Amino acid sequence: MAKTKKEENQVMENIISLAKRRGFIFQGSEIYGGLAGTWDYGPLGVALKNNVKNLWWKRFVLDRDDMYGMDAAILMNQNAWKASGHVAGFSDPLIECTKCKKRFRADHLDDHSKCPECGGKLGEPRQFNMMFKTYVGAIESDDSISYLRPETAQGMFVNFKNILDTFHPKLPFGMAQIGKAFRNEIAPRDFIFRVREFEQMEIEYFVAPHAWKETFEHFVKEVHAFIADVGIDAKKVSEHEIAPGDLAHYSKRTIDFEFEYPFGTKELYGLAYRTDFDLKAHSGVSKVDLSYYDEDKKERFVPHVIEPSFGVDRTVLAVLTSAYAEDELGGEKRVYLRLSPKVAPVKVSVFPLLKNKPELVAKAQEIWKVLKSEFGSVMYDEAGSIGKRYRRQDEIGTPYCVTIDFDTIEKGTVTVRDRDTGAQEAIKLDDLVSYLAQKLGS
Ligand code: GAP
Repeated sequence: MAKTKKEENQVMENIISLAKRRGFIFQGSEIYGGLAGTWDYGPLGVALKNNVKNLWWKRFVLDRDDMYGMDAAILMNQNAWKASGHVAGFSDPLIECTKCKKRFRADHLDDHSKCPECGGKLGEPRQFNMMFKTYVGAIESDDSISYLRPETAQGMFVNFKNILDTFHPKLPFGMAQIGKAFRNEIAPRDFIFRVREFEQMEIEYFVAPHAWKETFEHFVKEVHAFIADVGIDAKKVSEHEIAPGDLAHYSKRTIDFEFEYPFGTKELYGLAYRTDFDLKAHSGVSKVDLSYYDEDKKERFVPHVIEPSFGVDRTVLAVLTSAYAEDELGGEKRVYLRLSPKVAPVKVSVFPLLKNKPELVAKAQEIWKVLKSEFGSVMYDEAGSIGKRYRRQDEIGTPYCVTIDFDTIEKGTVTVRDRDTGAQEAIKLDDLVSYLAQKLGS
């Protein structure tokens, strides 16, 4: 049965509260009352986020031979943002209430006549540029203006020639980058869905003009494959073809990959055919030739671009939403995260059955060290009852717990417990590493 609005809000509140309680994500600058549109990732959040980024980097850079990794500077020469069209046009329509002074995205309001908060009269909509402006160096003048980048993409376009000159790749090839982006959103909201500081994972894939369609289709499949990789519920993902009149200024075709978040179906990722817009624009302003010479066909042209763009924070939100589950186990209610072992911040947790038995503690710590060197993120916990320890690991999505008991000392077996089913299995100590490696898919 479909969830009511109230139940959906409750799911979101539960996820936000779990994220804070268990050290995934905290409100930015919390002790000062926060800063709207910013969130801080704690130890488990950064581990989850790094796992997401590593999976992306592996699929799109390491496992391919046509992709060049980049890490460009966040601050760029202001002319880059003039050329890209961001200075003139990277804006959202803003509308302000004349009474309470609250600001809204005009395109998010059905009724422009009265304020949704206080009923006051709304002013005229105006365009608001979303780039954060700053000054580089000691003098604040028009010449020293720069911006915190609103997308990582431009850092790749301005390095296109560097890649041609240093690696001499043949078309088609791509550039890939993961990094921070900043947008002064009018109305940041929905936890980490719309924020002012976020991370993107982007690819600019350069092709001959006639080859754009097949490359676009290739990346539609790759986006879905990545969605499956990170453990986002594929049933909640749909494609939304952007109507020609709504396309961004650089795009001839865009598909938004949307996800059913608890607060509604909204954009997760974008895939755009950017044509030769960016290379031509940068070439025009910088006066540097950004064309490509096809040795085989003896032809010079400006490559066209297919751009799959992934938000890291929206990925984390979709992963958490897909994984969040409540059930009853052993007659008790529990909350758990059904995270894929590939992204789970902790892969395995190790417990001695009793913390006041030195022989169990010593053995558990010995096994913990072995598993840690094998699987990296392995936790040790001896506090509280075994049941409580299981619940704590369930809540952070740890796929397997290993308990060391008297059978470990006497018979050389440990108990491995599966997070999703709660089923427990006795495993020979000698087989433990290979058993877990197989289960974790590592
Ligand atoms: N280079 C193309 C580009 O930036 P976009 O659709 O504006 O396209 C790409 O952004 C992705 O970045 C989005 O699909 C989303 O995942 C993420 N994103 C954009 N704005 C965001 C925000 N304010 N907060 C969190 N993620 C955001």
